[in-house]
Amino acid sequence: MAHLDKTIEDLVQKLEEKYKSMGQDLASYLEGRLYENYVPYWDYVHLDTLLTLQKPKTDIPDEQIFIMYHQVTELYFKMILHEIEQVANEPVVSKKYLIEKLKRINRYFIILTDSFTVMSEGMEQQQFLEFRMALLPASGFQSAQYRMVEIASTDFVHLVGKDYRDRFDRNSDIEEMYKYIYWQAGATVLSTGEKTLTLMQFERKYNDQLIQMAVDYKNTNLWARYKQLPKKDQDDAQLISALRDLDLNVNVNWPLAHYKTAVAYLQRNPTDITATGGTNWQKYLPPRFQKRIFFPSIWSENEITEWGKSWVRQHVSDVK
Ligand code: HEM
Repeated sequence: MAHLDKTIEDLVQKLEEKYKSMGQDLASYLEGRLYENYVPYWDYVHLDTLLTLQKPKTDIPDEQIFIMYHQVTELYFKMILHEIEQVANEPVVSKKYLIEKLKRINRYFIILTDSFTVMSEGMEQQQFLEFRMALLPASGFQSAQYRMVEIASTDFVHLVGKDYRDRFDRNSDIEEMYKYIYWQAGATVLSTGEKTLTLMQFERKYNDQLIQMAVDYKNTNLWARYKQLPKKDQDDAQLISALRDLDLNVNVNWPLAHYKTAVAYLQRNPTDITATGGTNWQKYLPPRFQKRIFFPSIWSENEITEWGKSWVRQHVSDVK
């Protein structure tokens, strides 16, 4: 046999070690490679399956846009969670590592916020109002990944509804705090204050899982990881700026883009509002009412008072 290239020789040796350590025979595996097919792009990304996942409930053309944009958003949420999970699982997190991860997450959120015009400007209102009725009680409100991003980002106490937050601290019982989680105030019927089916379905499916996640992330969420850094690293300007951007991106910028879209489609006249099932969304969605803030201690008192108001837009243009 011709003399093997040195690189290949080294690789064969490493492969031999790898398979040997598992009690496997390298020769059999190499033979397998002889017959194995190459994987083309369409199989690698499971394209055929991906493109069969759009199943509208009506023949109204713009419903396809609505479905696909939700799917795209869920994939971005998955990418965001993928980054946060790595921060949580890393044995020791450095300042540099945390900044890099925060930058990735911020990048994804900026894309989601910027692209929200696909929703706000990209569908005919009349079509939306028609197909939306066929989708009830389904709502983006039921997106569990959105809530998971929040749970993995901060101490759970910051997700308690703002009127109850003062009763708890970061060491309070998670199940007790969960009873007052901020989203309990949403998806309720405007006229009676009762929970909608949207909210009840969500609770039935996800409560246990979300509580368990909050327990798991108590000491490994992004804020906890930040607080575990040496004090001098915590004071780093770039790191604080990345945390501030994240707080704004998740709790103000995306919610504002989303809220403005809801207003554009639903607020024209009283009958339009029924397309949500008659919920209290106008009182619930605006960030200035919810005051969800992941990292309150890195904001000034004034910034917190003004949360979700005009100063934010200025900051947003600085961020980009
Ligand atoms: C035309 C497009 C959209 C409209 C008109 C709209 C409208 C609404 C409304 C009215 C609510 C309040 C829930 C309720 O009271 O029933 C809501 C909640 C929500 N929607 Fe959308 N939505 C749109 C697109 C999206 C998209 C693309 C997503 C991405 C997953 C999404 C995710 C959410 C989330 C996460 C909530 C809960 C927000 C919170 O609890 O603060 N929505 N939406």
